[in-house]
Amino acid sequence: MKLGPEHVAVIVGGGGGVGRGTALGLASRGVRCVIADIEIDTAAAVADELAALGVEALAAPVDATDAASLDGLADEAERRFGAIHVLSNNVGVVQIGGLLDATEAEWGWVIEFNLMTIVRSCATIVPRIRAHGGGGHVVNTASMAGLWASRPEEVSGALLGLYTTTKHAVVGYTETLRGELASEGIGVSCLCPGTVDSNLMATSMRNRPERFGGPEDFPESRGQMPHAMAQEDVGRYVLAGIEADRGTVLTHPRGRRFVDNRAEALAADFDYFAALETEEDA
Ligand SMILES: NC(=O)c1ccc[n+]([C@@H]2O[C@H](COP(=O)([O-])OP(=O)(O)OC[C@H]3O[C@@H](n4cnc5c(N)ncnc54)[C@H](O)[C@@H]3O)[C@@H](O)[C@H]2O)c1
Repeated sequence: MKLGPEHVAVIVGGGGGVGRGTALGLASRGVRCVIADIEIDTAAAVADELAALGVEALAAPVDATDAASLDGLADEAERRFGAIHVLSNNVGVVQIGGLLDATEAEWGWVIEFNLMTIVRSCATIVPRIRAHGGGGHVVNTASMAGLWASRPEEVSGALLGLYTTTKHAVVGYTETLRGELASEGIGVSCLCPGTVDSNLMATSMRNRPERFGGPEDFPESRGQMPHAMAQEDVGRYVLAGIEADRGTVLTHPRGRRFVDNRAEALAADFDYFAALETEEDA
């Protein structure tokens, strides 16, 4: 869908990083934006940036782990701007550690934040987009980590299994939702970026609920992370992905070889088992 000032976007986790980039991308078309975040100060700062660009924006508090909070957000967005057209889901956390060492609480935290916040936000807000019948678009932020499983040596030894597992789930969820909504004029894209300038480790730890271990301080990075994509650039890709209705928004071309390797490994496994069948038939 071609976007313009007649459209309204709700950006969940919009107070920083990928969400801020998305807001700036949508604002370049004049889309009115609701910047929703558990950290209202950062959401307000992004809304102020949009206002300074001449785009109407509202900062709204939301806790994406709570369906009632998301429902209240959708009410507030509709009251202020009318029908919602674009939903962008960006809440996520990082947990570093080996798969076999992770506790149930760590799994619960990462599944809740990386997968269930998206499932819940879509279940709450997409019916509102459906109801007005004017079409729309959903962008769920996964990661390149949702497209293959890195070996630790490929990512400087980092153990990213919980992150990778849940990001694969987001890709599966989002691709399936795309199929389910295709006939209703609602596009769905999965955003799979590589490294983007943000403070994800710090926001992850700061907003960890008591039931998953409680908040912890983590130092914020100062200035843009080296080799990280600028938030504004991610926003340009998201805008292009929505307007062209691409299934996957891919911001980092260097990831392609890993996806190709995965496809080749799968093809080799298909060939191996097909050959076994042929041997059995003979
Ligand atoms: N930064 C990267 O390199 C990168 C790469 C690939 C994918 N991603 C993904 O992008 C998404 C956004 O991460 P980011 O890097 O922009 O970090 P970020 O910390 O800037 O964004 C996450 C936002 O979610 C908010 N949030 C946390 N808990 C919340 C809750 N319960 N309810 C509502 N909002 C809540 C935070 O306050 C923060 O503004 C995540 O899903 C992340 O996994 C990031």
